[in-house]
Amino acid sequence: MGCKGVQMIEFPQNGDERGRLVVVEGCEDIPFAIKRIFYIYGSDSDVVRGQHANRASEFVLINVAGHSKVRVKDGKGNEAVFSLNRPHTGIYLPKMLWKDMYDFSNDSVLLCLASEHYDSKEYIRDYNEFVEIIKAQNDMEAIAIPEGGQGTRI
Ligand code: TYD
Repeated sequence: MGCKGVQMIEFPQNGDERGRLVVVEGCEDIPFAIKRIFYIYGSDSDVVRGQHANRASEFVLINVAGHSKVRVKDGKGNEAVFSLNRPHTGIYLPKMLWKDMYDFSNDSVLLCLASEHYDSKEYIRDYNEFVEIIKAQNDMEAIAIPEGGQGTRI
């Protein structure tokens, strides 16, 4: 099963005889204002990067060169794998989602657009801790909205 909110985004390609140009505008082409960009390259094919979830940051990942894969897990047992292999296609990753990036090609340049400035404290790097936090969130929601009942303010 897929993970809620994760979606591939196709960006328009502006092309003419001089080549192609892809534009990504915050809040226009992607669902957040861009506060940070970083890019990952030079990772061997057997390297697994990411291996964390973010409490606050949302991301769009675009392999602007080469290809890689991203595996996402929602901490409730759902996971999905996406191939990133086109410079005009990105993947939107909401916050509180576990992500692993792997299978990097030699020429892979993975561009990451983020909704927040870097803050190491919002990174969850222990998978069991992530699952526990998701479970606690679900329990809170179950208390706030009893099954078949009206929502209760908490
Ligand atoms: P890390 O989060 O481990 O990379 P990835 O999840 O892509 O495998 O980051 C590697 C190092 O770079 C780590 O020391 C933190 C630092 N870093 C920043 O200083 N700012 C940033 O925006 C990011 C993403 C990482």
